Amino acid sequence: MMHFEKYHIDEVHSSGIQALMEFGGCSSFVVSWGKGHLYIVNSNNLRLYALYTFYLKDHFPIASQIVLPSTSPLRLYATVSDAYSQTLELADIDWDSIGFGLQPTDYMYVMKCPLDGSFSKGELQRFGNIELNPSSGILNYGQGLFEGLKAYRKEDGNILLFRPEENALRMKIGAERMCMPAPTVEQFLEAVKATVLANKRWVPPPGKGSLYIRPLLMGTGPVLGLAPAPEYTFLIYVSPVGNYFKEGLAPINLVVENELHRATPGGTGSVKTIGNYAAVLKAQAAAKAKGYSDVLYLDCVHKRYLEEVSSCNIFVIKGNVISTPAIKGTILPGITRKSIIDVARSQGFQVEERLVSVDELLDADEVFCTGTAVVVSPVGSITYLGKRISYGDGGTGVVSQQLYNILTKIQMGLLEDDKNWTVELR
Ligand SMILES: Cc1ncc(COP(=O)(O)O)c(C=O)c1O
Repeated sequence: MMHFEKYHIDEVHSSGIQALMEFGGCSSFVVSWGKGHLYIVNSNNLRLYALYTFYLKDHFPIASQIVLPSTSPLRLYATVSDAYSQTLELADIDWDSIGFGLQPTDYMYVMKCPLDGSFSKGELQRFGNIELNPSSGILNYGQGLFEGLKAYRKEDGNILLFRPEENALRMKIGAERMCMPAPTVEQFLEAVKATVLANKRWVPPPGKGSLYIRPLLMGTGPVLGLAPAPEYTFLIYVSPVGNYFKEGLAPINLVVENELHRATPGGTGSVKTIGNYAAVLKAQAAAKAKGYSDVLYLDCVHKRYLEEVSSCNIFVIKGNVISTPAIKGTILPGITRKSIIDVARSQGFQVEERLVSVDELLDADEVFCTGTAVVVSPVGSITYLGKRISYGDGGTGVVSQQLYNILTKIQMGLLEDDKNWTVELR
C-alpha cells in the first residue's frame, strides 16, 4: 500500500477537494475527489500520476479531517498497487484500424471472495498476467463466467456506459447457476467505473469504436474432487475495439448448424459461462473455413427452431413484425436483444418473442443479429442444408439500419436517452 506523508488542503468545494501533496518527492495536485476516486496530477507536467479508488469510510479521511491545519501530516492509504505514469491524453495507437482484438491497456480491477464470505474491497492493478493454482476451480472444472459491455466517448469527452446494471444482474444469475458468489450490483458498477476511468486514455475518440469491458468471475481457489472452489476472483480488464466481424458493418453470412448444438434444455445455455464458448469453437472454425462469418444454432430437440449465433441473438423481419426466439433457458438473454425489442416497439413494430422455425428464414424480408460486440449486424445470407437464402441486395436492410441508428445514437449520447439506459462518467 502507498501512503502520503505531507498533505496540504488548499480548497474544499462541493465537487471534491483540491490539495497539494508531496508524493515520491514531487508536489502533486489533487484535481478531483469524489464518488470513490482520487485523481492526482503532477503539478509540473500535468501528467496523471495516480488514480486511487477507495471507499470513503474506510480509506480516506472523513469530513472533519479535511479541515486539518495545512501543516498536519496525514497518512492516506490507497488501494492501487503502483502509481500511474500515463498521460490523460489519448493512447497513441492508430484509432482507424482497431478491430476486435486484445489491445493491452493500463489497469485491471481485482476483487476476491472466500466461498462462505462475500466480495471485499477490490483494487486496481497494473494490467498483466495473473497467477492461478493448477488445481483452481476454473482450470479444472470450468467454474467461470464472463460479461461484456462497452464504454463510448462522447464529443464533450465524457464517457457513457450502456445499461451496466443489466450485466451485473446477469452475472448474479449466472453465478447462482454455477455455484459461485457474485459481486453485488453496486460493487460491479463501482468496479466497472473505476476500471474505465483508470484506462480512460484507451476509450476511442467519438466514432472510432468503443472500450470493450470484460468482467470475469472465476473459481480461483484449489479444488481436487469435483466441488465449488473455496475462493473466487472477480476481475475486469478492458480493450479498445472496433467492429466485431471482419465484414465491418456489411452484412454477414451465416450457416445453420445441424449436428452440433450450443445448448440443451436444463443446461447452461442461458448464462454466460465460459464452457458455452469453448463448445462452439469447432462448428465456428468449420464455418469460417468455408467462408461463413458465423454459425446459427438450432434447438437440439427438434432441430427446427432457431436459437442464436455463437455470440449474438437473432431477429427475423417480415413486414411490420419482428420475431426473435423466446428466452427459455437455452439462449442468452442479450441486453442488446432486450434493448432492440424496446426500440422496435417504440418505432411501431410488432415484436414477437416465440418459437421461430428455420423455415421462416425462407421468406423473411431481413435478418439481423444483436449483441454488445456485434451491436446490430445485418445478415446478408443464411445457408441451410446446402441451400443459400439471400437478403436484400448486399446492403443493410432498411429496418435493420433504422434500429441500428437509434440504438447506437443512444449508446453514443447522440440521441436523448429517455429510457435512462446510459450511465455517464466524467
Ligand atoms: C451466446 C450469446 N448470445 C447473445 C449475446 C448478446 O448479448 P448482449 O447483447 O448482452 O451482449 C452474447 C454476447 O454477450 C452471447 O455470448
